[in-house]
Amino acid sequence: MQVSMPFSPDQASSYSGQVDSLFAFLCVLTILFGTVITLLIIYFAIKYRRRHKDEIPGQVEGSMKLEVLWSVIPFLIAMGIFVWGANIYYTMYHAPSEALDIYVVAKQWMWKFQHLDGQREINELHVPLGRKVKITMTTEDVIHSFYVPAFRIKLDVVPGKYSTVWFEATKPGRYHLFCAEYCGTGHSRMIGWVEVMEASEYQAWLAGGAAEGSLASSGEKLFQQFACITCHRSDGQGRGPVLQGLFGKEVPLQNGGKVIADESYIRESILSPRAKVVAGFQPIMPTFQGQVSEEQLLQIVAYIKSIGAKAPGEAGVSNPNAPAPAMKPPSQ
Ligand code: CUA
Repeated sequence: MQVSMPFSPDQASSYSGQVDSLFAFLCVLTILFGTVITLLIIYFAIKYRRRHKDEIPGQVEGSMKLEVLWSVIPFLIAMGIFVWGANIYYTMYHAPSEALDIYVVAKQWMWKFQHLDGQREINELHVPLGRKVKITMTTEDVIHSFYVPAFRIKLDVVPGKYSTVWFEATKPGRYHLFCAEYCGTGHSRMIGWVEVMEASEYQAWLAGGAAEGSLASSGEKLFQQFACITCHRSDGQGRGPVLQGLFGKEVPLQNGGKVIADESYIRESILSPRAKVVAGFQPIMPTFQGQVSEEQLLQIVAYIKSIGAKAPGEAGVSNPNAPAPAMKPPSQ
């Protein structure tokens, strides 16, 4: 069921109709209950008004039937709303694995976007039509909020972590992008556009930029520049864990716990290497806090992702020079 609300922005993402349906349901429900209760209040006020000065009302005993009825019905309605909302929430915040990655760094007062092929843009985001896009966001300073009304997306971007959300644009066009969290004097200027293009146009647009090489290859350069490669060797002889084939896998930790090697874990391991030490390794890695920018961190993450878990025979995401996973001894 997809409902379009009057006065609401374009429905331009795959789940915007579902969000609107839930919103419409909540509005109808609120109006319905609000009207019924208001009318009853007026009706009872008139019906049971005091008619003469010494009138004493008769005693009203409780009614079990009524009590149960007006407890159970709202409970069922509330649970229905909960399940419905949770379902949409789950859809929105679990990015499909085949989604196209786009990285976002917010700062006072702009949105910086990085595409896998190396294109960067500010306050302007180009995305292909009909393709799932996963956005991984962080901020250099304070909290911002990524808000694209036409996609029904609003997600806080919080310092020190990655926030992710995905969408699939279903209608070509230009859509407003806002910052929806008051972030300082330039907050109202922290706006931009999302441009949804046909797949072929998008390809042409991609081909037009990218003088600097792919995001992963920039990450690889940093990997060498910061000498990560001396410890994280692909042959398993280094003092740090092998990173080839790591991304998306479960990592056993020194303290007996486990963690999935996702974007946030890699970020944390670069900035606070002692937070989660891999089982069998010493906590000898220095922190890179203050030495790498958020954009560089995302490039390194993209690099580690590109040498990460790949299906056999599949080419690198966008980095043909990355060492193939075959370089590590066969595991499992
Ligand atoms: Cu950024 Cu408001």
